[in-house]
Amino acid sequence: MNPAAQPPTDTADPAPKPSAWEVMFKDATNSELKLAMAASGTVLSLFTAGHMAGNMQVYRGRKYYNEYAEFIRTVGAPVLPRNGVLWVVRVGLLASATSHIMAGTELTLRAMRAERHTVQGTIRDLKRQLTGKQRRRPRGRRRSVPQIIARSMRSTGVVLGLFTVYHVADLTVGARPAASSKHRHGDAYGNLVASLSRPGVAFFYAASMAALAGHMIHGMRTAAMDAGFTTTAQRAQTVEVAAKVVGAVVALGNVTIPVAVQAKVVR
Ligand code: HEM
Repeated sequence: MNPAAQPPTDTADPAPKPSAWEVMFKDATNSELKLAMAASGTVLSLFTAGHMAGNMQVYRGRKYYNEYAEFIRTVGAPVLPRNGVLWVVRVGLLASATSHIMAGTELTLRAMRAERHTVQGTIRDLKRQLTGKQRRRPRGRRRSVPQIIARSMRSTGVVLGLFTVYHVADLTVGARPAASSKHRHGDAYGNLVASLSRPGVAFFYAASMAALAGHMIHGMRTAAMDAGFTTTAQRAQTVEVAAKVVGAVVALGNVTIPVAVQAKVVR
């Protein structure tokens, strides 16, 4: 038989099957992903600001603080079951955090692809920078603080994620070794004081608030820009000031707590 007459055998590799991740994001534009980050980031920032205000009740003493913790569990009763509102808030926070992290990861992957970076290449570059074999930028060219904050969004985001996991295990779940050995369910004040009396934990909480300040300030500023609020110089200036004030107040308010526990002002 003439070999030319044989039906062609398809020896080329079939196109790789797209992963579930690729299928999920294939129709999402960068602007849509940025808007998803802005919306979820706003929910998380509102929670964090409200949570800081609630945390300040610790300065009113054990009785008030524990009453406040109990109020969070019983709000809406008897119409709603105990912990009803709390669970609605928890589900909302989890959904916001999940969409924030997923949209952020997809945008990062797209940026890396656009710069022709691969995950392996980025790890190799980082290793070379850490071992001093490659300088990141020419000697003498230092970045300004706002530039450092803007470029640290992924690392401060990772710190906040790790902080939140530890924090919930410590003060909400009471899981050892994150929680103190004195943890007792129902005594929010005692648990807070017992946890932050450990110097290493107090330092970790305070240091994480530096990441919170940077992430919130740059996040709020970027969210306002992506949502189209900064159309005039005046508006951009207002957003800039508001982001700095809110981020600094929330982070500094929280920092006072580990400091006050270590100084035995709160005990
Ligand atoms: C020094 C700063 C902070 C202190 C003293 C503090 C204190 C607390 C306390 C006492 C609880 C347990 C409340 C209860 O069970 O009644 C709690 C829960 C929680 N905190 Fe914080 N917090 C701080 C910062 C933060 C920050 C910055 C975040 C977010 C990034 C955060 C997120 C949460 C979450 C998600 C929960 C779990 C709420 C729940 O599901 O019950 N906290 N915090």
